[in-house]
Amino acid sequence: MQDKNDDYILHMKNIDMFFPGVKALKDVSFNLKKGEIHSLMGENGAGKSTLVKVLTGVYQKTNGTIDYAGRIIEPKTPLESQQMGISTVYQEVNLCANLTVAENIYIGREPRGKFGNIDWATMNANAKKLLHEEMGIDIDVNKVLNFYPVAMQQMIAIARAVDTKCRILILDEPTSSLSDKETERLFAIMRKLKAQGISIIFISHFLEQIYTICDRVTILRDGVYVGEYDLKDLPRIQLISKMMGKEVREDDIEANVDKSVPDENKVIEFDHVTVPGKVKDLSMDIKKGEVIGFGGLLGSGRTEIAETMFGIMLKSNGTIKVDGVEVSVKTPMDMMKQRIAFCPEDRKVQGIIGDLSVRENIILAMQAKDGMFKHMPRSRQNELADYYIKLLRIKVSDREQLIKNLSGGNQQKVIIARWLATEPNLLILDEPTRGIDVGTKTEIEALAVRLAKEKRMAVVFISGEMGEMVRTCSRVLIIRDHEKLTELNGDEISTAHIMQAIAGDYHGHA
Ligand SMILES: Nc1ncnc2c1ncn2[C@@H]1O[C@H](COP(=O)(O)OP(=O)(O)OP(=O)(O)O)[C@@H](O)[C@H]1O
Ligand SMILES: [Mg+2]
Repeated sequence: MQDKNDDYILHMKNIDMFFPGVKALKDVSFNLKKGEIHSLMGENGAGKSTLVKVLTGVYQKTNGTIDYAGRIIEPKTPLESQQMGISTVYQEVNLCANLTVAENIYIGREPRGKFGNIDWATMNANAKKLLHEEMGIDIDVNKVLNFYPVAMQQMIAIARAVDTKCRILILDEPTSSLSDKETERLFAIMRKLKAQGISIIFISHFLEQIYTICDRVTILRDGVYVGEYDLKDLPRIQLISKMMGKEVREDDIEANVDKSVPDENKVIEFDHVTVPGKVKDLSMDIKKGEVIGFGGLLGSGRTEIAETMFGIMLKSNGTIKVDGVEVSVKTPMDMMKQRIAFCPEDRKVQGIIGDLSVRENIILAMQAKDGMFKHMPRSRQNELADYYIKLLRIKVSDREQLIKNLSGGNQQKVIIARWLATEPNLLILDEPTRGIDVGTKTEIEALAVRLAKEKRMAVVFISGEMGEMVRTCSRVLIIRDHEKLTELNGDEISTAHIMQAIAGDYHGHA
């Protein structure tokens, strides 16, 4: 019997998912074909991760039906859905930091010997084969996971999911910490799985990636199904309009950069600063009212420079001056007192205190700076929280909502708010728009420019996305192998120049 439903592996129908006080999904449909790569798109908090978690049994849906491979399923746990052939990499990396790479890949399904004991040798050999041969990653599977950076951990999580025999593979923002090269490798693997007839759900805020790898897209807005489309028939600008629920023009998603030269007052100066193995003999200064970018590849040392400015890493040589005065730095608190703020790249690990409210998370850094004993009146706390919720369009039911119940992108916005609230003279933003939806991303870029222009704040903007630096920065330092190669100024700053400079083929005004 030929039924057109044979083309589909999954139909989710009339799905409702209600949390206390929040209707995260309202009457949502989702239809997945066999052997397609299907994107779920929507702004931060639209309900993408929730839909995935309903499918994988993390959450029990309030209403609706899930028709998977011709039968109705009610997965109660992620393990159950995995056993049915639905394999997932969640937005939050959920591996065990203290287990080895191989253990992380085979946890819960370890190869066993004759007597039921874990066969460690086979496990390590299989892990090695999977990572080296299939994923092209050169890594020691006997090392504990913690040893490797987040991007590598993400690849390991993906390897684990790919290796469990599945019919549906779900990747919820797997690429947000990956470099271009790693992303390409992932795409090659995805294409291979697709050719084997496996269906893939791919969530990402990078439009480029969606259009490169996906066949179709389902758009959600505010927990409601907007529609599903063939990507080849859907121009980008229409995709964004549908996500945001309003007509959007090309200029609306391009921030306006002020390339004018800032005043000469230096907020911070590095003179031959060295941190062994991390920062090599760096001399630079950052001026009031400028947005300065750090360009370089993953692992080039951009973050380490930021961490040195904030007192997380300590120099062995050289001098650091703040507002013209040499400072001795021992801890980040010393730099917070100098009105320097650092919003780290790995916000999930370094930033969020899940069981505190959005308000408490926002005022945290201010409280630390002012001292725990200086009480901030509750009315002032409320006022601040509401101001930043509005400014950054943080999607919350109210300011007392626990941060752990916010969507991934909205949690990140809270951490940005926390550092903005300290009203720093120098604000360091490390990959501030990673995982942030297209609409808000433009707003954060524009905000960086505005803070510099109107408040004369100095902003360090670190981003792996060249286009983003071109849109926001009036100066870009090029970092390679922990060393400053050169810098680009004003109109020199273009994607091509940044790339050439990183390769060592463009010298700008060193
Ligand atoms: N456990 C929970 N309790 C209460 N509310 C929740 C819970 N999990 C999610 N929500 C709410 O459901 C809504 C949808 O969140 P979800 O995480 O699905 O968004 P998303 O589309 O994945 O966003 P992002 O792009 O930021 O990852 C949000 O308003 C969020 O606050
Ligand atoms: Mg999400």
